[in-house]
Amino acid sequence: CGIVGYIGHRQAYPIIIKGLQRLEYRGYDSAGIALYDGNTIKLSKTKGKVSDLKNKIESEISTEGTLGIGHTRWATHGVPNDVNSHPHYSNSGDLVIIHNGIIENYDSLKKELIKRGYTFQSDTDTEVLINLIEEIKKNDNLKLGKAVQLALNQVVGAYAIAVFDKNKPNEIVVAKLGSPLAIGIGDDEFFIASDASPFIEYTKNAIYLEDEEMAIIRRGKKIKVRKIKNDILVDPYIQELQLNLEQIEKGGYDHFMLKEIYEQPSAILDTFRGRLLSKEAIIKMSGVEDNMKKFLAADRIIIVACGTSWHAGLVAEYIFEDLARIPVEVEYASEFRYRNPVITEKDIVIAISQSGETADTLAAIKLAKSKGAFVFGVCNVVGSTIARETDAGAYTHAGPEIGVASTKAFTTQITVLTLIALRLARAKGTMSSSEFRHHLIELETIPSKVEEALKSDAYVKTVADIYKNSTNFLYLGRGFNFPVALEGALKLKEISYIHAEGYPAAEMKHGPIALIDEQMPVVVIATKKGHYEKVVSNIQEIKSRKGRIIGIVTKGDTSVKELADYVIEVPETLECLTPLLTTIPLQLLSYHIAVMLDRNVDQPRNLAKSVTVE
Ligand code: G6P
Repeated sequence: CGIVGYIGHRQAYPIIIKGLQRLEYRGYDSAGIALYDGNTIKLSKTKGKVSDLKNKIESEISTEGTLGIGHTRWATHGVPNDVNSHPHYSNSGDLVIIHNGIIENYDSLKKELIKRGYTFQSDTDTEVLINLIEEIKKNDNLKLGKAVQLALNQVVGAYAIAVFDKNKPNEIVVAKLGSPLAIGIGDDEFFIASDASPFIEYTKNAIYLEDEEMAIIRRGKKIKVRKIKNDILVDPYIQELQLNLEQIEKGGYDHFMLKEIYEQPSAILDTFRGRLLSKEAIIKMSGVEDNMKKFLAADRIIIVACGTSWHAGLVAEYIFEDLARIPVEVEYASEFRYRNPVITEKDIVIAISQSGETADTLAAIKLAKSKGAFVFGVCNVVGSTIARETDAGAYTHAGPEIGVASTKAFTTQITVLTLIALRLARAKGTMSSSEFRHHLIELETIPSKVEEALKSDAYVKTVADIYKNSTNFLYLGRGFNFPVALEGALKLKEISYIHAEGYPAAEMKHGPIALIDEQMPVVVIATKKGHYEKVVSNIQEIKSRKGRIIGIVTKGDTSVKELADYVIEVPETLECLTPLLTTIPLQLLSYHIAVMLDRNVDQPRNLAKSVTVE
């Protein structure tokens, strides 16, 4: 979910509605806004997108008010409908709340409140929380801030909340545990949001609340931040934001996803800028350098991540083992954290996360730290929770990724992980200096080779048109490109809703081959090197079962061309770097199919960009 709030001298509505649109990547099942002009609270909410809310509000309520809060939802408790949408009122109608997160003990709290006469309109855990706050406030005749604090001390779960009280038109109370919450500080005005994008054009100064902190925000007053548990006042750190507005707008592309696909040459360049110095033949990464002893002493590396980031981890497994000869295990964060994993101080855990907020990845990090492991983060969002929780790390510097289907985050994650593997290979002596230099020089050519791979766009579009009505796709690859096959299948599923499976090419004969017939498109990554002959044999196996073959091949390839229905070329590079190129046509293929099927490319159904619930 995403939350936005405003209190100051401007009209709150335009700021909040625009802010919600920017946060829609965090969930878009339903949305709502509450505005307060000091006399009446105006609340409007609806199932659907922020654009639906906008149409509804403007015909339904007056949008007057210099205090307001808004929410865009990704359902956890209760189906996405109007009633379950936020904001929620307390029973008296005086208190209003928005909430991102989950209250795990909501059931027992709800039973208790029902006993005391409370009634509930929705199935949400959030409505339980606001009534708990009301009950505490009323019973002890407390101020809002105190009541929020006491209520949160009874709550188990995760939250970023904003609450206001009809009787206090100059105050919003916010609190955070587990879900992100930023406060933008302007001149006599304050902005509240899940990330800084809703207020970037108004102020560059922001406070990111830490877990278990709350803040009382009063019009024209200094913000007070305190610890929820022990009530200690803290001096908040005011950060200067680097983000700018152009970075979060579409810049002439039809979709954020397409813009982000096309940004990959510059994003990869930004990722190794200042780190890869090919002339001097060095890699500079302070997070690695400062902890080199630990890296060199490690028995193994465990990578934890979810979704696309997990796929980047799988590519990294091949790269680390091949170049730096360190054993690597790659784990779904959600599995790792719940299965009593064997970890010691001699393990290094690398957590990969674009958003830096994924709840399962965060929990896996906490578990690994508690067992004494050194945890290194690879995140895109600067200052995100995972970036702060890890012992050290390296940012991907891909810039904001708005499209829900991850593209440039994936290739920049692979770039960072390749830099780390190369640096370790050099330190361990598993690579000669000439090999090392050769890798650096090759890596430096990747942005221009990605540029070249993007030139296949028009051709990929014609291939997309031919296969867009298929109901199943198979993606095959071997070695470094096996995870790319998984990622290609995931991209197609996510945005086109076509069923797709990724498989190691050789494993196909142990199952998926049974699915192959003349209806089945099979995307095969068959670049030179990378077990090329073996993949060609796999292609022959598909062909003899009449499957349709789309080959991703090295420029100038002739053998696969003879067998495949269509081939898409990528430039030649070192085998370990091919994922950075073979990924490109797969992203474009899924993009064009989704557009042709009229899907919502940037906000596919049921998904969210940042999953801050378990
Ligand atoms: C969600 C997104 C995916 C992403 C995954 C992990 O499912 O839709 O695109 O790969 O979360 O997110 P993270 O931010 O941790 O990389």
